Amino acid sequence: MVTAPRNLVLLGFMGAGKTTVGECLARRLGRPFLDIDHWIEAKIGKPIPQIFQERGEAAFRVLESEAVAYLGAPTGKVLACGGGIVKNSENVQRLAEGGILVCLSATPETVLARVGHQRHRPLLAGDDPGGTIRRLMEERAALYRAIPLQVATDGKSPEQVAADVLAVSGLTPPG
Ligand code: S3P
Repeated sequence: MVTAPRNLVLLGFMGAGKTTVGECLARRLGRPFLDIDHWIEAKIGKPIPQIFQERGEAAFRVLESEAVAYLGAPTGKVLACGGGIVKNSENVQRLAEGGILVCLSATPETVLARVGHQRHRPLLAGDDPGGTIRRLMEERAALYRAIPLQVATDGKSPEQVAADVLAVSGLTPPG
C-alpha cells in the first residue's frame, strides 16, 4: 500500500509569518505550497476583506472549514492556515490527520509591527489594531498552546524560522 506523504501545516496568529515561512519551507523541501486564504480568494473570486464585508465572518469560517476538508488531505504540501482556523476544533483535527502541525508564535508587539500598516486583515481594520491583537490573542491563547510543536518567531528572519520548523518537525530537505 502506498501512503500519501503528510502535509506540513503552519498555524498561528496573524502576522506570525505562516505565508512567508511556508513559501521558504516549500522551496527548501521541494514541496508545493498552498495558503488557505489565497485558495478561498481564488475560489470565491474576491479578496478576504470583501468576503467578510459582503458575507460576514461566520460565512468566511464555513468557507475556511470547506477548504480544510479539501486541502487537509495528505499530499505532501506545505500549508499556511489563516490565524482563526484553530477556533474550530474539527479543523485542527482534520489538519492533524493529514499533516504535521507547527504553531508559529509572536508577541503582540511583534505582530503589530509586522501587520499594523497592512490593510488586508478585516479583523484588524478598526482604529485600535494593537488592542484587537491583544484581545484576540488572549481569546485564542489556549487553542494555539494546545498544538504540541511550537516555534517562536520574534526577532528571527523567515529563513531562521523555517530552519526551526524543520528542526521541530524532524523533516529534512532532500539531497
Ligand atoms: C484571520 C486571519 C487571516 C484571515 C482572516 C481572519 C483570523 O489570516 O484568515 O483575515 O481570524 O485570525 P492570516 O493569519 O494569514 O493573516
